[in-house]
Amino acid sequence: MDFNNFKELINNTRCTRRFKENQTIEKQDLIDIVDLARVTSSAKNMQPLKYIVINDENTVKEMAKRVTWAAHLSSWTQSESERPSAFIVLVNDTSIDGFVMVDAGISLQTILLASKIKGYSGCALASIDKEFCKKEFNLESGLEPVLGIAIGVEDEVLNIVDVNNNDTNYYRNEKDEHCVPKRSLDEVLIGSY
Ligand SMILES: Cc1cc2nc3c(=O)[nH]c(=O)nc-3n(C[C@H](O)[C@H](O)[C@H](O)COP(=O)(O)O)c2cc1C
Repeated sequence: MDFNNFKELINNTRCTRRFKENQTIEKQDLIDIVDLARVTSSAKNMQPLKYIVINDENTVKEMAKRVTWAAHLSSWTQSESERPSAFIVLVNDTSIDGFVMVDAGISLQTILLASKIKGYSGCALASIDKEFCKKEFNLESGLEPVLGIAIGVEDEVLNIVDVNNNDTNYYRNEKDEHCVPKRSLDEVLIGSY
């Protein structure tokens, strides 16, 4: 892969919330993805993250319906036919003295990129129902869900657009395409020495 391929991958790896229905993601695909996430950088190399992979249809449905999807899209919420096919849940093992939110970010991006390479798309979800996860997955005390990642086959068009008037809220355009405003390089690159 050269830089342009990588650039395309990064640009195309957007948080997706409308998925094709009746798609199966094999458990082994999810395990392969976690196997990559597990070797990414970790503060002090403490590796506090644990993972749960879910492709059971009913459990995915129960997870998906409890999520707050797209807080900025007030007139849309995910329908049953748009649900993902799988979830990966990142869990903090609080008995390990790590720097979990940074580790979780690195892991999240790795999982999103790996999913894309495998032909899927994902969405980071801080709004998963953590109490539901604790009960459903029999998490012992000290194991705290921190982030969910929905994974499925993308069924929407997603565009990066410019930020106007400092408005970073994502929206759907007149063609019902999802638009994600990103700040310009000029705005974010504040030093060059
Ligand atoms: C830590 C984190 C938590 C997020 N939680 C949610 C969430 O609960 N629900 C949701 O619909 N999107 C969630 N998102 C997705 C963001 O809304 C999305 O990243 C943002 O709109 C930018 O879009 P992009 O990822 O395509 O660049 C989350 C993203 C991150 C990084």
